[in-house]
This record gives sequence, structure tokens and C-alpha cells, in this order.
Amino acid sequence: MEPLKLGIAGLGTVGAGLLELLTANGAHFANIVGREIRITGVSARSRSKARDAATAGIPWFDDPVALARDPSNAVFVELIGGEDGIAKAAVEAALNAKKHVVTANKALLAKHGFELARLAEKNGVALNFEAAVAGGIPVIKTLREALGANRVRRVYGILNGTCNYILTQMQTEKRPFEDVLKEAQALGYAEADPTFDIGGFDTAHKLALLTSLAFGTRVAFDQIHVEGIQSITQADIEATDSLGYRIKLLGVATETESGIEARVSPALVYKDSAIAEVSGVTNAVAIDGDFSGNILLVGAGAGAKPTASAIAGDILDIARGLIVPPFVTPTAKLKAHKRAKLDQHYGSYYVRLALYDKPGAMAAIARRMGDRGVSLESIVQHRPQTLHAPGAASHLSKDKAQPVIIITHETTEEAMRKALETIEKDGNVTERPQMIRIEEL
Ligand code: HSE
Repeated sequence: MEPLKLGIAGLGTVGAGLLELLTANGAHFANIVGREIRITGVSARSRSKARDAATAGIPWFDDPVALARDPSNAVFVELIGGEDGIAKAAVEAALNAKKHVVTANKALLAKHGFELARLAEKNGVALNFEAAVAGGIPVIKTLREALGANRVRRVYGILNGTCNYILTQMQTEKRPFEDVLKEAQALGYAEADPTFDIGGFDTAHKLALLTSLAFGTRVAFDQIHVEGIQSITQADIEATDSLGYRIKLLGVATETESGIEARVSPALVYKDSAIAEVSGVTNAVAIDGDFSGNILLVGAGAGAKPTASAIAGDILDIARGLIVPPFVTPTAKLKAHKRAKLDQHYGSYYVRLALYDKPGAMAAIARRMGDRGVSLESIVQHRPQTLHAPGAASHLSKDKAQPVIIITHETTEEAMRKALETIEKDGNVTERPQMIRIEEL
């Protein structure tokens, strides 16, 4: 059989990982699909940086769009990144030239996934993006193929290794946020702009793709509610720990009667839940299918080798002639994404208040919650040890504020929001209340 010819654009960490895999496992790959994989062109930003043994002798293209159009390859592998610009131009050029496309570009797909899927379908080619969500975890294939016959009720996960690493280190080593972020960057997990990670946007890109795959809707990144982990303090880590929870940055998408609730936010999960055990840079994705039940996939969400594994799996499918609609459902049948109102979210909440130390303040808090029909499961007034430590939440010591931790029974987000607005207006708190959803997983 004819060799499968690849053009690879982008030779950073992931591109280098793919070259390593194709060298190390090339013979195995050829053996299982019955055809050789051959790289017929490469392109990268800096030719001098990319020049090494793995690319020696392979035709070089300064322009990735030219590589995408070049008839020497049948598969265009896009590892450039970025939601627009050259990556988008090259992917479009490849699809229009009837090339199969394999990409790791979550930002591009979160923004233009529907149009690109339509273009791929029109040209009868594959648009595969396993590496775009949760690195080495085969979640796209799982949703597209293995669980394709299920109606998915909910999909959720820890989709950003940097955030999970930061929260884990804050928990286990009681180290400050900034310190741990620097370490994650040095380890190569964080995005070039780390606000993408800690602000929740990287998770939201991935959740936008999972939502479309799970619920048969058009990709709608702008319909996702996004909160990052910047507001999480040691006070939250300690208080939640003593109450039996861990804090995780979760992406959660649920199909409700009023639409799809898709949100990225810090969440409290029970310490003994499977997802609470997922620590460090590890990712996890859970899919709740109506016939399969809940399935949890855990593994490396980033890094050269796991990401290369996902890309090579996509190439393997193409080599075998397996072409499926990019978002499971053919694009003509993908529904518009109808957003559920987050105000109608129903669940329990954790609240941390910094309360002025004066008579009646605590009673006023409980009354304001009661006024909105919010029932309290527990209310604890305490000063965690680390609040005395140097560099710890200084506003608390300076204003003689008393930390108060509340766990509510289930209620609506609207009731919580309104109760906390009134509490702020009453002037009994020294700072904005912290509110985190408790996730029953
Ligand atoms: N910055 C991402 C993470 C890399 O931390 O998980 C993989 O998308």
C-alpha cells in the first residue's frame, strides 16, 4: 500500500514529540496499518531552531500555507497554535486542497470548529483533534466512537494541568499561588500566556469541544461561563480541607431542561471522590452516558510524549481510512447551543466571609441567607493557622475581620447571588464574599 504522506507545521515541544514517536515507533506503526508513514514536508517559525537530525533531509517550507497546499502530502498536521492567523489559514488551505487535517489547536477549534468541520465534510476529509483536549487521554475518540450510541447527560473534568498543579501544591505544601505558577511555567505545562490557564480559558476551550461532541451542538465557546482560580486563597484551601473537600478547577457541561449549562470554575469536591484524587498536572474527564453510566478517564493532559501519542492515534485512523464527522454528529444536524441560565443552577455552596467583629454581624448574615430561602448546613467562625503566617491574607489581620465559613444546603445560584449582594451592602464584611459551588460527582 502507498505510504501515508504527512506535512507537519509547527516543530515546538509537541512537534518534536511527534517526530520522536514516528522515529521510535515508525516500524510498529507501519506493521499495524500495513503502510509506511512518511514525512514529506515540515514548516516552523525558526528554521535554525528546528534543524536537527529528525528533520534532516525533509523538504522545508517557510510558509505553512504552502505546505498545506503542497501535493506531496495527503495529511496536514497543524501544531502551530493560535485561534486565527496562520494556523487557521493553513488548516483551511489543507481542507480546501482535500487534505486530511490533524491538529492539537484547541483555541482554533473552540472559535472556528463548526466552520472547519463543515469544510472538512464538504471535502470528504478528516478533521481530527484528539490532542486538543486533555493531551494523551483519548476522550475525543471515546465520545466519537466508543460512546457514540449513548445520550450523554453530563461531561466534566479537570482539563488544565497547570491549574491542577497549582491547587495541588497550594494544598499539600501550603505554598503561595504565584510561587507555584512560576514552577508550572518552568516545567513547561503552562500556556505561553499563563492567564489562559489560571483564568480558566484553556479549560473553556476544551470544554467547548467536549460540549459539542457530547450534546450534538455547534461549538460555542462564547456560551461558556468562565471563572479562574485567581481568587482561591490559602484560607479557602484550609477551610475546605477541614470540611472534607478539595478545590478543583472543573469544566462541567450538563444538558438541562432549559438548555446546556457549561461552566468552568473552581469547585468543591468530596475528598473521597475519584476526581479529588487526581492531583498535580494529571487531567481527568468523566462522561456520563445513559447506557454506559459514568466513565472516568485519567492521564497526562500535556507534555510532548502524551500529546504526540494522541496525534499519532489520529494519523493512525487516517492511515486505516477511518473518517468520522469531526463532532460526532454531521454538521448539518448539529443543533445551535442553547445556554441554560446559570442563575437556575441548583446546588450547595461554600461561602467564605470576612466579617467585622461586632455584635449582631453573624446573626445578620444568617438572616440575609434565610430571607432568600437559603438554608445553612454549617456555619463556622474560625481563624485558620495560616492566616497568621507571613504573607497570608493580610486584609483579615489588618481589619480585625473574622473568617466565617458557610456551607449551604441546595439552593439556586440566584438566591445565593442576591443574598450575598445584600450581605455586602449591609457593610458587615470587609471584602467581597468568596462563593464556590459544591459539585456532587
Ligand atoms: N496549558 C495546558 C495545561 C497545556 O496546563 O493543561 C495543555 O493544553
